[in-house]
Order: sequence, then C-alpha cells, then structure tokens
Amino acid sequence: MRTFAVLNQKGGVGKTTTAINLAHAMALRGHLVTAIDMDPQNHLTAGLGQETHPQVGIDEVLLAESDLQTTVIDARQNLQLVPAGTRLSEVEQGARGVKGGLLLANEIKKLERQDFVFIDCPPSSGILSMNAILAANEIIVPVSSDYLALHGMSRLMGILNHVEKRLHHKMTVWVALTRFHGRRRLANEVRDKLVNYFPGSVLKTPIREAVALAESPSYGQTIFEYQKRGNGSNDYSALADDLLHGRTR
Ligand SMILES: Nc1ncnc2c1ncn2[C@@H]1O[C@H](COP(=O)(O)OP(=O)(O)OP(=O)(O)O)[C@@H](O)[C@H]1O
Ligand SMILES: [Mg+2]
Repeated sequence: MRTFAVLNQKGGVGKTTTAINLAHAMALRGHLVTAIDMDPQNHLTAGLGQETHPQVGIDEVLLAESDLQTTVIDARQNLQLVPAGTRLSEVEQGARGVKGGLLLANEIKKLERQDFVFIDCPPSSGILSMNAILAANEIIVPVSSDYLALHGMSRLMGILNHVEKRLHHKMTVWVALTRFHGRRRLANEVRDKLVNYFPGSVLKTPIREAVALAESPSYGQTIFEYQKRGNGSNDYSALADDLLHGRTR
C-alpha cells in the first residue's frame, strides 16, 4: 500500500485539487483507493459531492470515538472516502483525547486491501498535518507557480527532515507543479529552481491552470467526470502515471 500525504502549509496551492484528482485517476485505473479528508474546511469531502450534515469522519476517529472502517463512504467505484466530519478543528486545537501523532498511522494500518491512500492536509503545520506525515510513506508537495511559490518551502522541507531524523520515519518527497502557466517566465523560473533545489523529486508533469479544475468541485465532480478530455484531465492522468512509474524532471 502506498500512502501519500498531500502537504503544504501554504494555502490555495492545489492540495485538495491534487488529492481528489490523483485519487480518482488511480481508482479509474482499477486500483483500490482511500481518500482521507484531514482538513476542517471539508473541501475534499465537498469536492467529491459527499458532504452531509451532520457527518462523522476522521474527526471522531482521532477523538477515539469511532473506528476508521465505520466512517468510510463509498464515493466512486474503487474509491472510498473518509470525510473530515464536523469536529476536526477541535482536534487541531489539541482537544482532550488526542494523543500524539501516530493516531492516523495506526488507523490506516487497519485498512484492508487498499492500494493507495491519499490524505488531504490543511494549510497549517499542526497536529493534523503531523498525523498525516507520520501516516504517509510518500509526501506530495504541490507548489503553485506564482511569485511566493518557494516561500515556506525550506521550512516545510526542514520539518520533513526533522521528522525523518528524529522520529526515524522514512518517506519519499515529491514536488508537484500546480497552477502552471507555461508561457510565463516566472513559472519556468519557479520550475527550474525547484528542480535545482530538489533534484529527482519534481514530478515530470506540470498541472496547468485550467478553468475546469476550478469549476469541477462546485459540481461535486472530479475532473474526469466534469471534463473527460481537456488539459486538466490530461495533466492529472499524466501525473498519476508519473507516480506509478517514478518519473521526475
Ligand atoms: N490547475 C488549476 N487550475 C485552475 N484552478 C485551480 C487549479 N488548481 C487549483 N485550482 C483552484 O484554486 C483554488 C485552490 O485550490 P485547492 O483548494 O486545491 O488548494 P489547497 O491547497 O487545497 O487550498 P487550502 O490550503 O485552502 O486547502 C481552488 O479554487 C481550486 O479550484
Ligand atoms: Mg485544500
């Protein structure tokens, strides 16, 4: 089983878009996939059209009031979702009953017969993100190609290095270029710097800026349902293949 945390403390870089569409891309290839919404904003759950009120999810699992298997929803063929639930912000604020960072890791071990797990992280580096990091053996860091793109990257990599050394938790880090404008010099500069700083980690396919990617979540659809043929579905499909074959720049 490959478990990916989609992680970047910077907001709006395409974490959720990447988690949803990679998860569905893998499911469409016949793999068994679990997507976990670790963001109190609930965007992954909503983006898959699975938001209901009230909803029990990973919040109650982390608060030790439920187990993972009872919170799972069948979202698509081969794709099951663990929604955020309504109390995840309590967990982030360190509510009683949340002990340490290995809760999610221990729960994921109980998942049966899954090929891939994608964890959508919140734009912060608290308890929720730490649980996701410790549950994952691979980290996908989406980086948007705007002028603040690299801001915070060294801090993020520092946190991951620290976890690797101090907690002896090995992981592979991938960088995914998102919201990419190939004709802008700035975007190409960001890409080149990332390849320089993180050699062998930048996934080959940049995800281009595409209106359909911004529109699809409001219909509760993945890009493969909303616009089967187009830049958005081509790019995320290619990015899924990059992960399957380890293709980098
Ligand atoms: N390639 C793209 N082309 C166009 N719009 C995009 C693209 N990727 C993401 N978006 C849009 O940009 C916004 C931010 O994306 P997304 O929600 O995936 O980022 P995020 O990192 O999960 O944000 P947050 O930090 O709030 O969780 C959303 O409105 C999304 O639809
Ligand atoms: Mg998000």
